Amino acid sequence: MTDHVASAEHGFAEQYGRRPAGVWSAPGRVNLIGEHTDYNDGFVFPFAIDRRTTVALGDRDDRLVRVASTFSPETVEAHLDTLTPDTVSGWAAYPLGVVWALAEFGADLEHVRGVDLHIDSDVPVGAGLSSSAAIECAVALALDEHWGLGLDRPTLAKVGRLAENRVVGAPTGIMDQSASLLGETDSGVFLDCRSLDADVIPLGFAEAGLSLLVIDTCVSHTHATGGYAARRASCEAGARVLGVESLREVRVDDLDRARELLDDETFRRVRHVVTEDQRVLDTVRTLREQGPGAIGALLDASHVSMRDDFEISVPELDLAVETAQAGGAIGARMTGGGFGGAAIALVGDERVPEVRRRIEAAFAERGYREPAIFTVHAAQGARRDA
Ligand code: GLA
Repeated sequence: MTDHVASAEHGFAEQYGRRPAGVWSAPGRVNLIGEHTDYNDGFVFPFAIDRRTTVALGDRDDRLVRVASTFSPETVEAHLDTLTPDTVSGWAAYPLGVVWALAEFGADLEHVRGVDLHIDSDVPVGAGLSSSAAIECAVALALDEHWGLGLDRPTLAKVGRLAENRVVGAPTGIMDQSASLLGETDSGVFLDCRSLDADVIPLGFAEAGLSLLVIDTCVSHTHATGGYAARRASCEAGARVLGVESLREVRVDDLDRARELLDDETFRRVRHVVTEDQRVLDTVRTLREQGPGAIGALLDASHVSMRDDFEISVPELDLAVETAQAGGAIGARMTGGGFGGAAIALVGDERVPEVRRRIEAAFAERGYREPAIFTVHAAQGARRDA
């Protein structure tokens, strides 16, 4: 039994005084490339990471759902007959939002019995590694299997997104939940966010002698307020002016025309999305044809586009990226929604200590908070563990 299963079972027993009926887990994700393209119906290429959220579940005789976790002292309960998006808030909005969203996708919850859930996680919160999607996906899969709902994984991804959009209140896309549910060991998930067709593609980092370093700046972010929603609104406004349903339909060749029709800021938002979609396609092709050692320039270009056109980077992320590049990373970029969180760097194994040392020194020199720097591996998506 792996450690996280034993500790989930232990946590459940401490909380509820009995053994759980089952244990499920779902990973956080790193987005290799394709940022703010998902809600524009475009392409993304994330992978599930070896940091997981674990849910231990036990049956009840009534219609209550109770949730407890290692990251909050409070236990929250909701009644299956009265649960609505407006009746939950705080961290419990993630698991309870999923319960509500399952019914929205046609799951018949009228005849199921309630459950007790205990949630444990080693996905860092606020780092842009989708700790929220990991909770949503672990709970969604656990309830789907325990209640025998029969929803497939793409639908469970939509359940998680709906919980996030309506209950948590963050207008996010489908990428994080898709990575968490569809990821496989040592592979990335190349997802077409319009059709939801997913191709699982081997990354080959280890064979190429490469490590994927995460630099968590510890500048915390949230997507339920401000910048994320504003960027999404700009993209939608740009699409309206250009007469397309989504920016997915705009090609790099169309950008000259777009420049004439859009104000400067909207144009730059659009240019980021359109070029980023192309970079995702180029990354997947380059990876297949030449291997991971050849994708560095695309990662670097993605960061510049987010920094200058989409304007979602922060000085700490720029410093992490620039220092990693100067230290010999083959490519680096911020990852996730932006306004804080983490950067990633693809680094030759032998350069990892040096890159880490340089970033720590650069942060100390600027008086920034000490970053958390660690390697991640592409891991299996959501699963039942016990
Ligand atoms: C967050 C959202 C995703 C996606 C990214 C940006 O992680 O949850 O849906 O939009 O930001 O690529």
